[in-house]
Amino acid sequence: MNVLDFSKRKAANHPISMVTCYDCWSARVLNDTEIDTLLVGDSLAMVMHGFDSTVHATVEMMVLHVSAVRRGAPDKFVVGDMPFLSVRKGTAFAMDSVQELMRAGSNAVKIEGEAGHLDLMAHVVESGVPVMGHLGLTPQSVEAFGGHKVQGRNEGQAAQILESAKRLEQAGCFALVLECIPAELGRLVTREIGIPTIGIGAGPHTDGQVLVLQDMLGMSPCFKPKFLRHYADGHGMIEAAVNRFHQDIGSRAFPARAECYG
Ligand code: KIV
Repeated sequence: MNVLDFSKRKAANHPISMVTCYDCWSARVLNDTEIDTLLVGDSLAMVMHGFDSTVHATVEMMVLHVSAVRRGAPDKFVVGDMPFLSVRKGTAFAMDSVQELMRAGSNAVKIEGEAGHLDLMAHVVESGVPVMGHLGLTPQSVEAFGGHKVQGRNEGQAAQILESAKRLEQAGCFALVLECIPAELGRLVTREIGIPTIGIGAGPHTDGQVLVLQDMLGMSPCFKPKFLRHYADGHGMIEAAVNRFHQDIGSRAFPARAECYG
């Protein structure tokens, strides 16, 4: 998959699959899967570092995780998130951050929102860096939204999201993440713009879907927002394996003779 394939997939009505990935060992596994693209999302601040929101992600953290993912998944298209406020501190800071993310191994960067930094997004595109947009529930604005809430439920908000999507397409974004919006709005935006939409909690009509890897693997069984499907009981599987190891140590069943050096 390369950046040009995204629009081809929309034209062919062939859905795009994306999962988040933050580290080298899961990147190695994902490199062997059919998944189309990996997102080193700033959600790593929550999933990998235990913070309560993505505002804690820094450029330094993103670069470290992007480079780990690139080493583990040399064959995948990797999108690196521009973290909290990195596009609001002036062009020089933003471009330095883009440069670091690209040098770490990103094929593209993702930037949340558009109001107030649309020109900057166009500048990044014109500099030869593919940009993925992100509208709807943009988690870096969680405090302004008063929590992680579905966006675009009323007509005014929905119209704003649609207009923003059109502006992002005009600015040169190659794809757009739509997060936590009503399915009808997901359908409308997808129909009205020429670039592919990738939804998370945006219904079935988007041109692709993305989930956080640990969420879809069921690593936190109690975390089950409406849009999430668990594809495995990752928590239970690891818990059972580690408990078996613990018990084998206690009973001296591990290591066996075949696991010892002569
Ligand atoms: O950071 C992230 O994981 C994301 C996805 C939820 C789209 O932006």
